Amino acid sequence: MGFDYANRLNMLPPYLFAEIEDKVNKKRHEGVDIIDFGIGDPDLPTPSPIIEFIQKELENPDNHRYPSSAGEAGTRKAIAEWYQKRFGVEVDPNGEVAILIGSKEGLANICRAFVNPGEKVLSPDPAYPVYAQGAALLTDAVPVRFPLLAEKGFLPDIESLPTDARMIYLNYPNNPTGAVCDEVFLLSASRWCVETDTIFCYDNAYSEMTFDDYVAPSALQVAQGDGTIEFGSLSKTFNMTGYRIGYAVGDADLISGLKKVKSQIDSGAPKFLQRSVIMSLGQYKNAEKPQMVKDNIAVYQERRDVLVNGLRKLGFKLDLPKGTFYLWMKVDGPSIKFADEMLKAGIVVTPGIGFGQNGEGYVRMATTQSVQRIEEALERMAKVL
Ligand SMILES: Cc1ncc(COP(=O)(O)O)c(C=O)c1O
Repeated sequence: MGFDYANRLNMLPPYLFAEIEDKVNKKRHEGVDIIDFGIGDPDLPTPSPIIEFIQKELENPDNHRYPSSAGEAGTRKAIAEWYQKRFGVEVDPNGEVAILIGSKEGLANICRAFVNPGEKVLSPDPAYPVYAQGAALLTDAVPVRFPLLAEKGFLPDIESLPTDARMIYLNYPNNPTGAVCDEVFLLSASRWCVETDTIFCYDNAYSEMTFDDYVAPSALQVAQGDGTIEFGSLSKTFNMTGYRIGYAVGDADLISGLKKVKSQIDSGAPKFLQRSVIMSLGQYKNAEKPQMVKDNIAVYQERRDVLVNGLRKLGFKLDLPKGTFYLWMKVDGPSIKFADEMLKAGIVVTPGIGFGQNGEGYVRMATTQSVQRIEEALERMAKVL
């Protein structure tokens, strides 16, 4: 006799990524050498000054105790100072900043705080699955997807969106497409949210993972009135996905609701990690990326260039993304079939359908492999194709 899941859990679509993981593990067991472009998880280590800082902090007994679930005061202040330096935005560290256990939980918990069962939640298609699933479906809300299309630069047609939703998620630099936006786009999104009384959740997790001359804006730079909350994270900026530390900044009511939910569920991010936020964001002396971030970005940029050039030589049409470490590549036929073919050659790519219906016909590749492995993968692809 087993226990049935609650209805809301049964509403979740089958987890494609778990199926892929099974297939990949099977191949590994067979002894196939796998080159994995599947997961958006940096292969590079955390910069050593941050590791050394955290090691020291661990020795301080004060850091062994429960943190403040609202976020440690010094950490909230450091984030407010960073928003000033990086985006020129003034925020109140007491009322307008929350500390998260990675931005993922914040993106889901904001829905719990503000969306009632049956209300609509807008999210892009394709998109990071948390908005429609972990956020909307697990809140008994109704996820409504809107298309991101190549011909529109993967930006939504804001004016055509349903006006009766409670909340909208947008994310640039974008996972999975690598698309970026400018302040003019964010301004139009923000105006639309105010006009339609829709809560604006902006996922800026890749704000620092940008290339060439592109600088990612904050939605708070252009926010028109209340109702905007922005999410960010140390995960990608400092190769710290495994630590679980992020932040939310914005409208005081939204931050307060988010903190209220979190105070009932978790007890805050560990203090030694909260202190590492002060240290790492403190590396920014102004809007420019500090050296440790520049070094990191330079590695991803080189890999991006090698992989894009190689794929173009193989006949694929794809843009050089200005943000994120993802390449979003158009393929012939169903994306799962293409991914299966690649796996035969020991190469893991993520089928676009896993990010929504509009992801069909694409695959996503994360540049989390060395240049040498990328070149090897390109050679293998040349043989298979
Ligand atoms: C678009 C986007 N937002 C948020 C996250 C969550 O990051 P974290 O919870 O590590 O801060 C990810 C992780 O891959 C992501 O791709």
